[in-house]
Amino acid sequence: MLNKNIETALNNQIKLEAESSQLYLAMASCAETRGFGGTSAFLYQHSDEERMHMLKLVKFVNERGGHAIVPALAQPPVSFDAIQTIFKTLLEHEISVTESINNVVDDCLNEKDYTTQNFMQWYVSEQIEEEGLARTIMDKLNMIGNDKGGLYLFDRDIGNQASAPLA
Ligand code: FEO
Repeated sequence: MLNKNIETALNNQIKLEAESSQLYLAMASCAETRGFGGTSAFLYQHSDEERMHMLKLVKFVNERGGHAIVPALAQPPVSFDAIQTIFKTLLEHEISVTESINNVVDDCLNEKDYTTQNFMQWYVSEQIEEEGLARTIMDKLNMIGNDKGGLYLFDRDIGNQASAPLA
């Protein structure tokens, strides 16, 4: 049975994963309207992954006798002024997600809930990957600057990274 503090911490994390999915969906839509097809495919996929992160938590909370709350979500930004802004926002967002996951792990240790602490390790590893990927993308974009040819190639390459671009 989940302790109430842990249930609350996990429900907060559910909300954050849902917000991530919503934010990346808004980014995908913005990129799509500006002709960045590869970037939008990557972001649509990333949005789907965040929904999967959320669902995994929902199932876990309910399986352990808690009640996963499906949260209300705020409207994410409608437009971003540049591809660089999108990925800078994404990196900053992922850093805040990592902090939040570390806090959940802290709570688990304080409450001696080693089952949830063990479950959360998947998220700890996932964050290393996600932050690493976002930093690599930012490094590339910083190198490209405002070079249109560079941005064209960036968009093509990142589209190839999205394994199942959505039509
Ligand atoms: Fe679910 Fe990108 O953290």
